[in-house]
Amino acid sequence: MPQHVAIIMDGNGRWAQKRFMPRTAGHAKGAAGVKALVEHCAKQGIKYLTLFAFSTENWQRPADEVSTLMGLFVQYLEKEMKSLADAGVRLKVIGDVAGFAPELQQRIHAAEAATASKTAITLCVAANYGGRWDVLQAVKNWQAANPQQSVAELTEPALAQNLSTADMPEVDLLIRTGGEQRISNFLLWQSAYAELYFTDVLWPEFDGIELDKSLKWYSQRTRRFGKTTEQIVGETEKVQ
Ligand code: IPE
Ligand code: IPE
Ligand code: MG
Repeated sequence: MPQHVAIIMDGNGRWAQKRFMPRTAGHAKGAAGVKALVEHCAKQGIKYLTLFAFSTENWQRPADEVSTLMGLFVQYLEKEMKSLADAGVRLKVIGDVAGFAPELQQRIHAAEAATASKTAITLCVAANYGGRWDVLQAVKNWQAANPQQSVAELTEPALAQNLSTADMPEVDLLIRTGGEQRISNFLLWQSAYAELYFTDVLWPEFDGIELDKSLKWYSQRTRRFGKTTEQIVGETEKVQ
């Protein structure tokens, strides 16, 4: 079972357009399914689920679509967080939160604080997130915290400790719905050794059954991390 599953939730717009509905209706449908999926992941024993909700590039979309997405985010924090907290979900938001309206920032911090002690699963929502932004802010944070050191002394673990996902394991399984096979500036550093699962299923239709298909696929992968299959088999035999 992967410890950390990350999902690029794509295909809301196409789901709606296929039904002659506005793109925003697809976002509403997509958001409505999140809670059940989070609970499904918790039940499966996944400890970290990161969802790509809004990228640094998504500001370029039409203003009404951006404001619908922001509205859904606020609504979500208001309505669903209570029941998610009851289910043991800890919320963490990664991304440049300072880019959001003050009211939304305040709600994010309140929801994070209210769920900080929950342990069933960490739901990490990537909002105004970009993988390049994350790496750059990590370098800047490291330098600010270590003013006496030069960047020549910066190590990979030190950089990782300054990423927005500092307290989380690296991504084991990266899923993208909606048929595209690209990363779109998601968790670039953290997905260095992730298994990549692409499905044509559009996000509003991606449910527990679809997630289980990805988990089954994941269980059949051999994660070599640069080694040979023989080495990996040897190591697993030693453990057993
Ligand atoms: C949702 O899917 C992803 C978000 C940016 C919220 P899209 O809105 O990208 O849907 P498609 O790709 O246009 O179908
Ligand atoms: C990626 O989806 C961002 C999110 C899912 C939030 P996009 O639909 O924005 O990605 P591109 O533009 O097709 O690469
Ligand atoms: Mg898309």
